[in-house]
Amino acid sequence: MPNTADPAAPVLLFDSGVGGLSVLAEVRKLLPQAPVIYAADNAGLPYGTKTEAQIAARVCGLLGRMSERFRPRLICIACNTASTIALGMVREVLHVPVVGTVPAIKPAASLTRSGTIGLLGTEATIRQAYVDQLEAEFAQGKRLLRHGAPELVVAAEAKLRGEAVDPAVYNRAVAGLRDQLGGEVIDTVVLACTHFPLVQAELTAAFGPGVIFVDGAQGIARRIAHLTEGQTFTRTAADLALFTRDGPELALLRPALARYGLDRVAVL
Ligand code: DGL
Repeated sequence: MPNTADPAAPVLLFDSGVGGLSVLAEVRKLLPQAPVIYAADNAGLPYGTKTEAQIAARVCGLLGRMSERFRPRLICIACNTASTIALGMVREVLHVPVVGTVPAIKPAASLTRSGTIGLLGTEATIRQAYVDQLEAEFAQGKRLLRHGAPELVVAAEAKLRGEAVDPAVYNRAVAGLRDQLGGEVIDTVVLACTHFPLVQAELTAAFGPGVIFVDGAQGIARRIAHLTEGQTFTRTAADLALFTRDGPELALLRPALARYGLDRVAVL
């Protein structure tokens, strides 16, 4: 049963790395009092270059362990790759509400004027049938051009560690879309990986004017607020960032984690 009776029961956000922080930022705006555990499977990062079976096994196993240990009131899979592959499986095995992250194709389709939408995701996400279904359902009559950009995951992680990133990385992501047939008229880009809003300023500069970006974070935050409506929240301790492996990057990430209100760091 979801642990809604305990006001200190956390909302657990899960990603392979720091990407889900882009979702956490929106959750904080709507639910500033919610106790949060932010879990990053840094031992499994990146997910986007793994197989479906590898991703499903990791995500189901880790979320099972974490929900037993932390008794969250709700889990948010703040990762498009994990959600498009494993959301159904996780919902089947856990008796906790699970909110997923799916590529924001629907809002992009209503925003585009040129009729051509770009989608940046991980390699695993862009090949999912889930994305084909969203395209068929919401982007009929539009053109959806997809590009797998694993380098942007690396760039976002480096940025949050405070490291400089070569701008050529962003230019290559832009070229991956623009160089496709019809890519020159893309006016709307779906950021279909939660890491990518963390480098949106850099992507904006690389695309140049005339392109708008869409991601799912606000919609996810609204869904979490809706599902927890009427519940009481009490923060008894500083919010926790939980990693699956210890390493030097944890210390480097501390300042960025603190900016998102995650003042405690631990390893699962
Ligand atoms: N943040 C994740 C997503 O939304 C994926 C990053 C990775 O490749 O691990 O897809």
